[in-house]
Amino acid sequence: MKRIIYAIVVLLLVSSCKKGSKPGGTTVPVIPASDTSLQKMLPFKFGGAVNINLLRTNTKYADVAKHEYNSITAENAMKFGALHPQENTYNWTDADYLVNFAQTNGAKRVHGHTLIWHQSLPSWVTNYSGDSAAFENIMKTHIQTVVTRFKGKVTSWDVVNEAFEDSGVLRNSIWRQKLGDDYIARCFQYANQADPDAILFYNDYGHEYSSAKRTAITNMITDFKNRGIPIHGTGMQFHMTVTQSDANISTAINAAAATGLKVHIAELDIRLNNDKVQGLTFTTAMATQQAAKYGYVVKTFNAIPAAQKYGITTWNVGDADSWVPGWLGAPDWPLPFDAVYKRKPAYYSIINAVK
Ligand code: G3I
Repeated sequence: MKRIIYAIVVLLLVSSCKKGSKPGGTTVPVIPASDTSLQKMLPFKFGGAVNINLLRTNTKYADVAKHEYNSITAENAMKFGALHPQENTYNWTDADYLVNFAQTNGAKRVHGHTLIWHQSLPSWVTNYSGDSAAFENIMKTHIQTVVTRFKGKVTSWDVVNEAFEDSGVLRNSIWRQKLGDDYIARCFQYANQADPDAILFYNDYGHEYSSAKRTAITNMITDFKNRGIPIHGTGMQFHMTVTQSDANISTAINAAAATGLKVHIAELDIRLNNDKVQGLTFTTAMATQQAAKYGYVVKTFNAIPAAQKYGITTWNVGDADSWVPGWLGAPDWPLPFDAVYKRKPAYYSIINAVK
């Protein structure tokens, strides 16, 4: 008798959980309970790039990061200019705060962004007048000091960021000008020497709209593999407009997976106001369109081999924190949380995309 009652209770529970099915077989979105989170619901790591000032001062912001993410990136605090403002001065305060936050809030993975980039460089580097050997030493010392400092705490690094133009040619950055085309390979070697366990990424934007750039990156990865240069992952930024086609998104994700390396969608945001319309407001229709695009990205990413799914990181937390409105000079709402950290339709679409 006890067994029969138990079976009936189980049956009742199971049927009450099947909220996604309606009579007639149509499916409605399954809205997760309020105690759920992206980190609980997704079969890969999900995170955000965080602004350390907001993390320190805005409780809601910090709560979302704590609750939702199991991976975290510094939006700016680990860039060259932030960490190494003078030749003989390193400033670890903000980066340490982030690492400590990650360690004390559920052992979140920390992804380091970024060791070598043409932007956010301090003036002592951009104005450097020494010869090529001295400049090489700056690059090597910076990489190895930073990677060593966070050894065992930062799991992975964007070793080089945005080294290619959209046309596929190497960007004529200060690094290339002073050190030649092969500086990228040496950056990976220097990082690997400092922490052989660190997972090393090349990170760039435009995989979804520039086949020339995608091909250049793929060729570089093949060349590195042939030469034994330690590269383990490809980071696709995916700062995209909501009008980006699904076909382009899947081409980019599948091309990255075809390298055999780990794939990180590293800076995801989906903007709605690419035409920079002043005074635009966020409508339900826009929210729905954005949710569908987020869902498509997640579903396509989730279909690549499990071992290659390094994770998805959005570029900041809530709409009010995003770099996009400042960059566009117009209002926008590119993230899965709104300005007061309420979950948007995009949030639910991310979760439903892996069901
Ligand atoms: O910290 C100073 C502050 O003291 C000063 O008052 C203020 C005045 O403008 O500037 C502050 O620094 C700004 C910093 O963000 C922190 O807010 C810099 O000027 C500004 O250039 C910097 O912008 C960042 C940008 O990278 C350049 O480093 C954005 O926040 C950040 O979202 C953006 O992120 C990049 C990725 O690293 C690489 N991929 C593209 C992505 C978007 O551009």
